[in-house]
Amino acid sequence: MSDDIFDLIVVGGGPGGYTAAIRAAQLGMKTACVEKRGALGGTCLNVGCIPSKALLKSSELFEEVQHDMEGRGIMVGSVKLDLGTMLGQKDTTVTSLTQGIEFLLKKNKVTYIKGAGELQGGGRVEVTGEENKVIKGKNILIATGSDVMPLPNVDIDEKQIVSSTGALELPKVPKHMVVIGAGVIGLELGTVWRRLGAEVTVVEFLDRVLPGTDNEVAKTTQRTLKKQGMKFKLGTKVTSAKTAKGGVTLTMEPSKGGSSETLKADVVLVAIGRRPYTEGLGLDDLGVERDKAGRIMVDNSFKSNVDGVYAIGDVIEGPMLAHKAEDEAVVCVEMMAGQKPHINYDTIPGVIYTWPEVATVGKTEEQLKEAGIEYAVGKVPFMANSRARAVGSTDGFAKILADKKTDKVLGVHIIGPDAGTIIHECVIAMEFGASSEDIARTCHAHPTLNEAVKEAALAVAGRTINS
Ligand code: FAD
Ligand code: NAI
Repeated sequence: MSDDIFDLIVVGGGPGGYTAAIRAAQLGMKTACVEKRGALGGTCLNVGCIPSKALLKSSELFEEVQHDMEGRGIMVGSVKLDLGTMLGQKDTTVTSLTQGIEFLLKKNKVTYIKGAGELQGGGRVEVTGEENKVIKGKNILIATGSDVMPLPNVDIDEKQIVSSTGALELPKVPKHMVVIGAGVIGLELGTVWRRLGAEVTVVEFLDRVLPGTDNEVAKTTQRTLKKQGMKFKLGTKVTSAKTAKGGVTLTMEPSKGGSSETLKADVVLVAIGRRPYTEGLGLDDLGVERDKAGRIMVDNSFKSNVDGVYAIGDVIEGPMLAHKAEDEAVVCVEMMAGQKPHINYDTIPGVIYTWPEVATVGKTEEQLKEAGIEYAVGKVPFMANSRARAVGSTDGFAKILADKKTDKVLGVHIIGPDAGTIIHECVIAMEFGASSEDIARTCHAHPTLNEAVKEAALAVAGRTINS
């Protein structure tokens, strides 16, 4: 065994892992971060949040410049797509950010070890890959994230049948792309390729898009994306896919049963969810408990059932979001250091970066009804917001749900321009236990999109001024 002994070994260098490693080092722990990908930043930086947002921005500009300029008196000539350069911009962004994380680990004196980590018991982790050694830690934190959920009889080859990873680097714009799954990935990446010229059909098992999102928001999202040209086939399940030189033939049938039909596509994107990734970690031999979905089971301090083994991020329960992993990382290592931090799972925002954006925090109407909580609704359309009119983006609404008796804000659901930025005033308000009146009486600058939030708060008490 080597002499490398650490206070904390973090396995996985994604948003959960690298954040935990940095915070632990700041707290005085001798820390190692083991990552097998060859680059830090995990799914999020390499094949998730960042590359998808780079392509969403580029494709948004491509569409906007073709369709939305003349009305403002800006005449553009013919617009051409250089997909190679667009993908290159995305790759450069990713590389600069992942290298930035490496710099941050160095700056904080975290030892970055390149290779796959396997837990061997007694605090030992065997690393194989670019580096080969055994290291020892007083504590081990598993932050190995998640992986694509496979679909039986639909084999991903990352060329014709792709996961989100392949969909971020298609060499040409498909004529027809079929997206399986109307979740976050399906709608975001479907939007990218539709904007770049593909016909996009989204096939969804359920009879709605974005399960778990407030119903009204999900319906408006579908309607808006349909208006933009995206096609939807809801209540339908894909039973198999056959690839040939000319494309892919999907066989599908109604989810509730019925006769099957086929659909042809040049490219199929499988986006039916993600599953925790624990392959090769040696968890069975160690006896680390997992739930039915394969997630590592942890207590409120992120401790597993095995002494000295912790887990955070996508590999445990909860929304698979980078900021959730990061917050858990900080809380987990601060608890290890004897501090008393907190994480509030009721105020973790979720953003879907389509246009308009969708942003939500707290309970949905459906959840409140199910819990038997009486609530008041304040809702205003962006059509009534002067800034939305000025920027020419008036689709959508802001909706605040407040407790009928106490007026405490229980949930905020926004579909509209820059919703993902606007939502944060609501997140802070909820974190501090605000009432809708607190928001309504907070001065909002004019003209801003955030005024829609103030107006929605006024609407809870039925006293709107501008709508
Ligand atoms: P990961 O980021 O998955 O990192 C885990 C790391 O562990 C990986 O790098 C992996 O290589 C490494 N690893 C695994 N096993 C081992 C081992 N044995 N040894 C060493 N290393 C190992 N979330 C958002 O909040 N906003 C978004 O906009 C967003 N967009 C997304 C877009 C796409 C296309 C996808 C796929 C996901 C997106 N997500 C987004 C989700 C986000 O990427 C994840 O929630 C986040 O990355 C989880 O962080 P994590 O640290 O738990 O795991
Ligand atoms: P998802 O869980 O959001 O959506 C999957 C969709 O596929 C659901 O609508 C589901 O009903 C449907 N589905 C499941 N099985 C199906 C089948 N056999 N046929 C047809 N439809 C089927 O999962 P998705 O989109 O893959 O994203 C995975 C995770 O990544 C999400 O949990 C999300 O949190 C995260 N993510 C976050 C983003 C963000 O924050 N903006 C962006 C992209 C991903």
